Amino acid sequence: MRGGTVVTPRGARALDIAIAAGRFTVLSPRGRLGAAGHDEIDATGLHVLPGIIDPHVHFREPGFEYEEDWLSGTRAAVMGGVTTVLEMPNTDPPTATAERARAKLALAAGRAFCDHGLFALLDPGHPDELRPMVRQGLVVGAKVFLGPTTGDIPTLDDAGLLAGLATAAGLGLRTCVHAEDGPTIETGERLLKAAGRRDLAAHLEARPSGAETLGIERTAAAAAATGAPVHVCHVSSTDGLAAVERARAGGVDMTAELAAHHAFLSMSDMPADGWAIGKVNPPLRDASHPPQLLGALARGIIDMVASDHAPHLPAASRGPDIWSVAAGFAGVELCARIYLTAVTDGRLSLHRFAQATAEAPARAFGLWPLKGHIAVGADADLTIVDLSARAPISSSRLHGKATATPFEGREAVAPPIATVIRGRVVMRDGELLTGPGWGRPVARSPIRRRVARPVRGWARSD
Ligand code: NCD
Ligand code: ZN
Ligand code: ZN
Ligand code: ZN
Repeated sequence: MRGGTVVTPRGARALDIAIAAGRFTVLSPRGRLGAAGHDEIDATGLHVLPGIIDPHVHFREPGFEYEEDWLSGTRAAVMGGVTTVLEMPNTDPPTATAERARAKLALAAGRAFCDHGLFALLDPGHPDELRPMVRQGLVVGAKVFLGPTTGDIPTLDDAGLLAGLATAAGLGLRTCVHAEDGPTIETGERLLKAAGRRDLAAHLEARPSGAETLGIERTAAAAAATGAPVHVCHVSSTDGLAAVERARAGGVDMTAELAAHHAFLSMSDMPADGWAIGKVNPPLRDASHPPQLLGALARGIIDMVASDHAPHLPAASRGPDIWSVAAGFAGVELCARIYLTAVTDGRLSLHRFAQATAEAPARAFGLWPLKGHIAVGADADLTIVDLSARAPISSSRLHGKATATPFEGREAVAPPIATVIRGRVVMRDGELLTGPGWGRPVARSPIRRRVARPVRGWARSD
């Protein structure tokens, strides 16, 4: 691959790249590489980024294939420049046993366009299943839900959270948390429904930032007691962010993720009724939050970005009664474009973009150093973009099954030019060139704690 501006951990450089057997073999100053043995990619005028890892997608299969499946979800991913997805367990059945994880990977085999990893649901009903899932290499991390969201998923009380985190930590896994406190939400919903509320704002009122703060504080307390590494999914409020910083100051290894909708949208972008695509958990908040969350990402306080790709059919996504509208929307194909637009606007550096989309998720979930950076010996995963090209976001041009997006009509950086996975060009100029079936399950190594001052916990992975 010649002619591109290559974003490495040391900065953006004019480099040519040689790839063999799916790995980077040579990074050389522009013009010094010999003739290619096989295919050559011309990246003149383009930026070459480490392959994007989306650490939070819902691909719905098994159970909700009418919303998405492994073929359509990974197709949308590679169209959006994503080379690896990490998939959430709230399918039907939920990914809570080794048998189910194996069955889910079998559904992806032969049909996935991109590499993929699974999260295991920490389910008190299946306390002994995490160990075999890890031993058999079926999962990259654990997931817990502290409050209600899509799917009939058990939510954990503090006893369940402590037990789950201790088990996961002992197996060298980081645990992802949907950190909205269940009792807070249930109480709020009951009161608001009794008052006859069914507008979009009632959803926000039922899930105040206090519910998120409490969820993060419960997570921090359990992580401190157990020594478990944890990950806060979709941080949505400045109060939640402050709770993440307090946890870290107390020595907890807590990573955090920012979804594109929480970084760039607020409630004031949404009409007041339930007829717009705007309901999501945690909710969009007032306009004071997004710029501060993006600023925290730019400074490295929030580690990584994710789409929280959560497709639902159009009929479920809109309606007169907000309580019966499904939460979440498509995003895997748009996340990179939206954050790259912030890069071109000068609000996020390309360096931070690469860290947040590749290095940070790779490190947090044990994919590093094989994935997450452009370096000799690593998997040759690349996302090639033209930062000078722009195009409006249009759900009709997306490649999933349920593509409605609250970003509809926004001007953004154009879709990526190419997606390269383990040396193969999977997508180029909007055409699928390799697969389906090229995508493979990722290999994971146990993660190391990343805080300087470790908490004394019950379980240690290293
Ligand atoms: C997600 C979904 O639909 O699976 N919905 C959402 O609003 N974010 C679940 C989740 O991530 O909480
Ligand atoms: Zn969630
Ligand atoms: Zn989600
Ligand atoms: Zn649904």
